[in-house]
Parts: sequence; C-alpha cells; structure tokens
Amino acid sequence: MRAWEIRQFGLDGLALSDRPDPVAGPGQILVRVRAASLNYRDWLMVQGKYNPRQKLPLIPCSDGAGEVIAVGSGVTKWKTGDRVMGCFSQGWIGGPPTRDKISRALGGPLDGMLTELAVFPEDGLTRTPAHLTDAEAATLPCAATTAWNALVEQGQIKAGDIVLVQGTGGVSLFALQFAKLAGARVIVTSSSDAKLERARALAADALINYKSEADWSKKARELTGGIGVDHIVEVGGAGTLAQSLKAVRVGGTVSIIGVLAGTASELNVIPILMQNLRLQGVIVGSKEVFENMNRAIAQNLLKPVVDRTFPFEEAPTAFEHLASGTHFGKVCVAMQ
Ligand SMILES: NC(=O)c1ccc[n+]([C@@H]2O[C@H](COP(=O)([O-])OP(=O)(O)OC[C@H]3O[C@@H](n4cnc5c(N)ncnc54)[C@H](OP(=O)(O)O)[C@@H]3O)[C@@H](O)[C@H]2O)c1
Repeated sequence: MRAWEIRQFGLDGLALSDRPDPVAGPGQILVRVRAASLNYRDWLMVQGKYNPRQKLPLIPCSDGAGEVIAVGSGVTKWKTGDRVMGCFSQGWIGGPPTRDKISRALGGPLDGMLTELAVFPEDGLTRTPAHLTDAEAATLPCAATTAWNALVEQGQIKAGDIVLVQGTGGVSLFALQFAKLAGARVIVTSSSDAKLERARALAADALINYKSEADWSKKARELTGGIGVDHIVEVGGAGTLAQSLKAVRVGGTVSIIGVLAGTASELNVIPILMQNLRLQGVIVGSKEVFENMNRAIAQNLLKPVVDRTFPFEEAPTAFEHLASGTHFGKVCVAMQ
C-alpha cells in the first residue's frame, strides 16, 4: 500500500512510501481508506510542533473514511462493504475523558489516515452517514465532533441562545451548523468579508470582521443588546481569549478549543469569577459523542463544508493550502 509518512518534521520530511499491505488479525477490520481530511493539529504534527517527541515515521491525519474490505476472526459488528469512519481516540468509547482514554489518537501517537489501507479494532470505527460522500465523512471525526461536544454535549445550547464562532475554519463552520440546528442565533467572525458573506449563506445571523474591528467584543455585545453572547467557540486561544471574556454574557460559557492565535498570555481572572463565567476545555470527544452527532447529521441531512479536495499524491500541497488560511471549512484528500 501507499501511505504518506512524516519521516522528519517539516513539510519536506513528508514522503509517499510503500509499506506492506496490512492484514486483519483476530478482532480486526481492514479498511480501504477513500478520503482523509486535514486538521490544524495534523499540520502542527507535520511540523513537529504538536509533539516534538512523537516517534517517526508516522502516518499523519486523524480523520478518514472508507470501506471495510476484510474482517478478522471473531468480528461481529462489521462486514465487507460497510462504509466507515475512524474514531479520533481509539479506545475512548464513552464517558468522561481519562488520561488513558485520550492517549491513543489517530495521526499521532498512532498511525493515521493518510494511507490507502488501515487496520482497526472493532470499536475503533463507526458507520458513515448514508447521505455523505467519503470526503465529507472524512471531515467528521475531529473537527465536527469537537464542535458538537463543545456546544451540544457539554454546552447544552438551546433554541434562542446566542453563539459566537471565531473564524471560518473546520471547527467553526461545524459549530455554526450545529448551533443553527439547535435553533441558536449565530455570530460569525472572520478576517475576510468574502468569507463572512459565505457564512451568511450558511445562515449566520450576524457577521464581524475581526481584522477591521480588532475590538470585536464591543460589536458582539452591541449585537446582543448589551447582554453578551451565551456561548463562544474559542479557537484563537491566548490571542483572542481576552476579547471573548468581554463578549460573553454573565453566566455564559467559553469553550476553549484552539490556539490559532497563541498558547500563553496574561489573563485577568476577575471577570471569570465576578461574572460567573464557565471556561470549558474541550478535547474532541468519545465514540459515543461522535455517534450522537452522526445521528443528528443523518436525520438533518447536514452536509459538511468542504473547501477543496486534493488528490492523494498532492497531500503536501493540501497541507500548504491549510496553512495558508485561505480555506473556508475543510480541506480533504481523496485516495482515488
Ligand atoms: N481541542 C480540540 O479537541 C480541537 C479539535 C479540533 C481543532 N482544535 C484546534 O482548534 C483550532 C481550529 O482548528 P481548525 O481545524 O478549525 O483550523 P482551521 O480549519 O485551519 O481554521 C483556521 C481558521 O481559523 C480562523 N482564525 C485564525 N486566527 C484567528 C483569530 N485570531 N481569530 C479568529 N479566527 C481565527 C481563520 O478564519 P478566517 O480565515 O475566517 O479569519 C482561519 O482560516 C486549532 O488551534 C486546532 O488545533 C482543537
């Protein structure tokens, strides 16, 4: 089989390799991977910034979808021809996270989905919603599950809530779609007016350009009649948290998801306690959370926003495209 391997950190260290075809041992499932999607995490992994101690070579990418082509002895849940997606954390079936449950993610430390074939344990896979293409399904395991976990499972958002999503990347556009599904009003921020117009077409209710309005929390408060936003999907991290704390309402929630604008900064903790705020860290989600989301996606025929799908051979260019920040939604790679 062919697989992309990180042999050394850096884009130049990404190499298309020939590896022996894996076989499904007892209790295992062999999957022909048809598509993978890229997450910012995967880009950090390629550069050696996610875990500089990661053992190499590593097949990158946590997210992929395909078809079962063989099952090992004792497998009861899957058969040849089933359409499946890999679960981000292999071994986190349900319940709250523990160190052990979150220690085995695809695409680092375990080999990931930028490969033609991959082997999984029975519980390491879940079923692809029937209305989705493989590329669309490949967008779900990390970005979508994280957005769903933040807003629905942990955030418990409800109709009438006001949700603010930062930027128009993978996590944020899923958050926009799930918040609309729940009946919330959604404010989208972006560095680009053109992307904001595309967010409007996805039913965003209000738009803020965070480049031309650096003090975007002020605009967000105005848009909520001075009350503040119920729930913020924080993907900027250290560089945006101060604004989020100003934009959120008394008793509101900030889901801490990403670090696109930095990992460390000075933080005034007074508003957190005086305004009874909840800062909720989110680390993707369990298989159970993934499946709850997939049920909602299937019932509502929700379609992920795929910005562009690159051929397998052009995976490095796909990473460059993600790194450029010009994308809107998800960047995918298709194996054929
Ligand atoms: N905790 C978890 O479990 C988890 C899971 C998935 C992702 N993440 C993290 O979440 C973050 C987003 O991931 P992703 O895969 O959605 O990334 P992505 O698709 O690459 O999204 C990038 C977009 O984020 C927006 N952005 C960048 N800097 C921003 C800023 N200062 N303020 C507001 N928006 C900003 C930009 O949108 P515009 O171009 O519209 O400005 C950019 O295009 C990353 O840090 C990633 O590591 C964490």
